[in-house]
Amino acid sequence: MNKTKKIWLDGKLVDWEKAKIHLLTHALHYGSGVFEGVRCYQTDKGPAIFRLDEHLERLFNSAKYLEMKVPFSQKELKKAVLQTIRANKINECYIRPIAFYGYGKMGLDPQGAPVSVGIALWPWGKYLAKESIAVKISKFIRLHPQSVPAEAKVCGYYVNSIFATLDVKKQGFDEALLLDYQGFIAEGPGENIFLVKNKILYTPSLLNILSGITRDSIIKIAKDLKIKVKEKKIKPRELKIADEAFFTGTAVEVCPITKIDKTLINKGKIGGITLKLKEVFERIIRGKEKKYLKWLTFVK
Ligand SMILES: Cc1ncc(COP(=O)(O)O)c(C=O)c1O
Repeated sequence: MNKTKKIWLDGKLVDWEKAKIHLLTHALHYGSGVFEGVRCYQTDKGPAIFRLDEHLERLFNSAKYLEMKVPFSQKELKKAVLQTIRANKINECYIRPIAFYGYGKMGLDPQGAPVSVGIALWPWGKYLAKESIAVKISKFIRLHPQSVPAEAKVCGYYVNSIFATLDVKKQGFDEALLLDYQGFIAEGPGENIFLVKNKILYTPSLLNILSGITRDSIIKIAKDLKIKVKEKKIKPRELKIADEAFFTGTAVEVCPITKIDKTLINKGKIGGITLKLKEVFERIIRGKEKKYLKWLTFVK
């Protein structure tokens, strides 16, 4: 782990090693926390955070589903993220805000347990270190929408992602792909998916998946580039005959997929539309596209 100096915990900056919690923290036992993954990039005008407001808004929405009262406002947490970056004198990092039911009460009704909030950050390079990846459709399906609200980013949900990841990594693949309960393509363990067929960009509708902020960005960028975008239910076999495919997410950014199960996509080569979207996305996060500067929060 690439440690930094300070972590923001419940309103104070503490030393990395001292950001500790009690063994009987509610969220440790039951997954009753909500979190975000955000990235900060080096630009010509200093470090800038990509779509911070949208990430914090999603954090607060996730908290609402868990009936969690976050003891800070969105504005206060925005300031805290900036303060933590400055305190660590870091230009480029992955940021992990988390709010969780803490220590003070056990049992499955979390109300009454104190809510803690933390912000840690550290340098985290490419999440999937290859230029393009091989993906396997997992035997584990995405959580049923009547079991959990899919649009919330809740800590406990990620056990589903962990099972899928362990399963496919054992079989030599780089990443998993989960279907939904109806057998349609849902998403990766921590990514949304896109495919290209006959120059049209397709992505699963927001039914059983997380509403990814990178997904939203790519849809907007594609439309601006006059690429037709369609959100729909996608069958695994439609994905396998796609011309191109890629994952999106804060951790993976835009990550080309060139193999699904045993099927090569585009004969194993990264496709042109994928490359174009990846290139524009990379310019945007580095502050090189004027039109999209509104997506960046500059630290200095
Ligand atoms: C399950 C899941 N799907 C999709 C994503 C991509 O979302 P975003 O682009 O907001 O990082 C993530 C990451 O947060 C995720 O955990």
